Amino acid sequence: MPRGKVLLHPAAKPLVFVLALLPFAWLFYGAATNNLGANPAEHLERSLGDWTLRFLCITLAVTPLRVITGTPTLARFRRMLGLFVYFYAALHFLSYSWFDMGFDVADIAKDIAKRPFILVGFSAFLLLTPLAATSFNRAVRALGARRWQALHRLVYVIAGLALLHFYWMRAGKHNFAEVAVYAVIVAALLGWRAAQALKKKRASVNMTRTAPAVGAGPSRS
Ligand code: HEM
Repeated sequence: MPRGKVLLHPAAKPLVFVLALLPFAWLFYGAATNNLGANPAEHLERSLGDWTLRFLCITLAVTPLRVITGTPTLARFRRMLGLFVYFYAALHFLSYSWFDMGFDVADIAKDIAKRPFILVGFSAFLLLTPLAATSFNRAVRALGARRWQALHRLVYVIAGLALLHFYWMRAGKHNFAEVAVYAVIVAALLGWRAAQALKKKRASVNMTRTAPAVGAGPSRS
């Protein structure tokens, strides 16, 4: 069977969907059965932040994995995984708005302006919104492929902001071990993309160098 053909199976997408929902289901079950430890609100809020970052890394890993393993069918899952980043980010924001701020919009606005790590997380969430909103085929057609691609490059900025948000949050506790792990993963994924872009640029420069100049035919004199 050719590589990745199993990913075309009609059950593959529903399976990935269910797997991506498992962390949410697990947290929901923990909350419903009062099994989230001494501070359930904090546990929920932090776990949702963790899962947002994990899905961001998983989504960024799809293209490198597709190219390195030669499995084009992996691309089928990228949009769904990207939407799960937004799903977990929205729940993380919702849990913060509820448990920390009691849904007081004025307090939320003040907190965003006052605490840099909240501002950075909020900026990442805001930037994710247009990406989620334009992840559908109709939006791709309306924007045109070039503009859509340019917009979706924002994901690199989002990854940087997410790491900064996490780093800043942990800085108060001088606890950087997990932040370092995510930083290495994000750096490797973005580094791979930068290397690919450089390779493409070099190839196109070489093409223009080796292509015969226009009108450079045999001399008539
Ligand atoms: C792409 C967007 C975001 C990502 C990837 C993200 C990720 C994270 C991560 C990984 C943590 C640390 C969890 C841990 O300690 O294990 C965290 C904590 C936190 N985030 Fe976010 N976050 C995002 C957006 C936001 C937004 C929009 C807000 C609120 C405006 C926010 C508020 C918080 C707060 C308050 C904490 C600390 C919770 C605590 O101390 O108990 N985050 N976030």
